Amino acid sequence: MTLVLNTLEGDYSEQITELLAAKDSEVDIVNTAEMKIAHCVGCNMCWLKTPGVCAIKDDYEIILKKLVATDNLWVVADTKFGFVDYRGKRVLDRLVPMLNMYIEIRDGWERHQLRYHPLNFGVIYKGNGNREMLEEWCMRVARNMAGKSLGVIALDAPETSANAGGNVVETAMETATNTAAALPEHIVILNGSPRVKKNSNTNKIIQAFTEGLESAGITHELYSLSNHTEWDEAREAFMTNDNIIIALPLFVECLPSLLLEFLSTLPTERKQPAKLSFILHSGFDEGHQLRLGEKFLQSLPSQLGCTYGGTLVKGGSFMLRMRDNSYIKKVTDKILASYAKMGQSFALNGNFFTPEAKKFTGPEKNPKIGVLLFNLIFKRLVKKNFERFANAWGCTRPLNDQPYLMQ
Ligand SMILES: Cc1cc2nc3c(=O)[nH]c(=O)nc-3n(C[C@H](O)[C@H](O)[C@H](O)COP(=O)(O)O)c2cc1C
Repeated sequence: MTLVLNTLEGDYSEQITELLAAKDSEVDIVNTAEMKIAHCVGCNMCWLKTPGVCAIKDDYEIILKKLVATDNLWVVADTKFGFVDYRGKRVLDRLVPMLNMYIEIRDGWERHQLRYHPLNFGVIYKGNGNREMLEEWCMRVARNMAGKSLGVIALDAPETSANAGGNVVETAMETATNTAAALPEHIVILNGSPRVKKNSNTNKIIQAFTEGLESAGITHELYSLSNHTEWDEAREAFMTNDNIIIALPLFVECLPSLLLEFLSTLPTERKQPAKLSFILHSGFDEGHQLRLGEKFLQSLPSQLGCTYGGTLVKGGSFMLRMRDNSYIKKVTDKILASYAKMGQSFALNGNFFTPEAKKFTGPEKNPKIGVLLFNLIFKRLVKKNFERFANAWGCTRPLNDQPYLMQ
């Protein structure tokens, strides 16, 4: 079964069928522009309260039910910043109920268990996509779903879109070397997580980081994009300040769709230059898991009329908001204290290009002994902890439930 989610306005059925003819003779094309589909808000209900069922009651449930009978998933999307636009990313962020919360090591990497079966994944893009970045994204998404990449196809004539955006990362790296100039006095910080502020791990990170900034005499103002009523002020602050940090969680190997939407509302011409830096964090703790997200962030500032101030990259943030037990509290306190130190370092250096920022990520991949210990001891402990959380949330189903299998 092949499912195509067409997120473009309009009916592209003929073109899509033609493009996929050599691969699949029969495809089910769903036009999502005509459907009501919200951003994933990271509420975790689909993992911990109603396993496999999303708490957002919109048209995405139709797609989840189709996915249970799907082997190949294609997303057709317009592009922005060289990547799929927020509409294309949104239908991917909502895939989370297709996995369950349990963690395992698969092909050497930390992964969530599949709720159903492997899924192959491909992208058909319109406009100026950075092909290399899209190909890597496809491969990473497919591997998370234990499937294969189906590849990347340009909907427009391949000559016009194949190389577009290809040099953006290099340009960012060039400008990065020229950004040491002025040290910050005041910083605008955007929390790019769609999760409400009080539950957001990003917010915990920002709190710790800004303690470090404040201790060095740097002031800041904070906007949380999960709250739409803050978007106008956030946009105004972004356009009128010269030092900006966006802190964000990794969502399906790149930026949350909500943040992509906000960024696509920003004017690209600025009156005065600004330095844009990032704090990128993720659930899994291997540094390699965040590298595509980092690559995308490197490409972003020049497209928004800013210079690049580097990205602070660190995994293992999923527990930061869960502080109900003394062991977890001890571990998370240590992580947060390290972010406070990085706040002091940013105040002194004005960027994340320092050796301490590089080192902050930790190992790119878990060492063999770590994998062994995980399989022997921690896997079961982590599983028990997740079940404890689920119990506290009033969950009455097994966490690996398959609610749509029989329908
Ligand atoms: C929809 C969604 C997708 C995610 N994708 C990834 C991912 O690809 N890799 C990863 O390591 N963590 C992923 N995470 C985990 C988050 O990055 C992590 O839990 C983070 O701490 C959330 O921060 P927040 O509470 O501020 O939203 C994902 C979480 C959600 C809800």
